[in-house]
Amino acid sequence: MKEIKITSKFTIYENSNELSSSNKSLLLKAIEARNNAYSPYSKFSVGASLLLENGKIILGNNQENAAYPSGMCAERVAIWNAASQYPKIKIQKIFISASSKISIVNKPVSPCGACRQTITEYEVNQAQNIEIFFTGETGKIIQANSINDLLPLAFDKTLL
Ligand code: THU
Repeated sequence: MKEIKITSKFTIYENSNELSSSNKSLLLKAIEARNNAYSPYSKFSVGASLLLENGKIILGNNQENAAYPSGMCAERVAIWNAASQYPKIKIQKIFISASSKISIVNKPVSPCGACRQTITEYEVNQAQNIEIFFTGETGKIIQANSINDLLPLAFDKTLL
């Protein structure tokens, strides 16, 4: 028997001014997507922007539903949007931004478990890491260099 320790590494940016100009543009795209979210029930809006290897930027936002479980998160809307349009093109980065009509979201909002699992699927398939940047409406931005840092010991197709 032995114990192992799994460590994750993150980069913390104090605000968007610390991002490179191309990353700042991607964050602005995530905010643009967030502003089009359909979140009348939770009042919590999330936007995601993806940078693909071919230079295309693909957006998604959360889409809620009166039958609550029928809604979908921004990250999965964006990833499936990309996968449906460009199934063979690798995803390099995803930016996630969240805001609320009820309170100020000043902490980084990390992707939910189901979205982490979905990102894992595409990172494993493309055999190339996906950088994940997430933030709130204001405040710090957190960068992970791979979904492994957010979902270690993930279930993936190599286990089937
Ligand atoms: N939401 C996302 O879009 N992404 C996440 O990773 C967490 C939650 C959405 C789902 C729902 O519309 C709202 O935020 C509140 O949970």
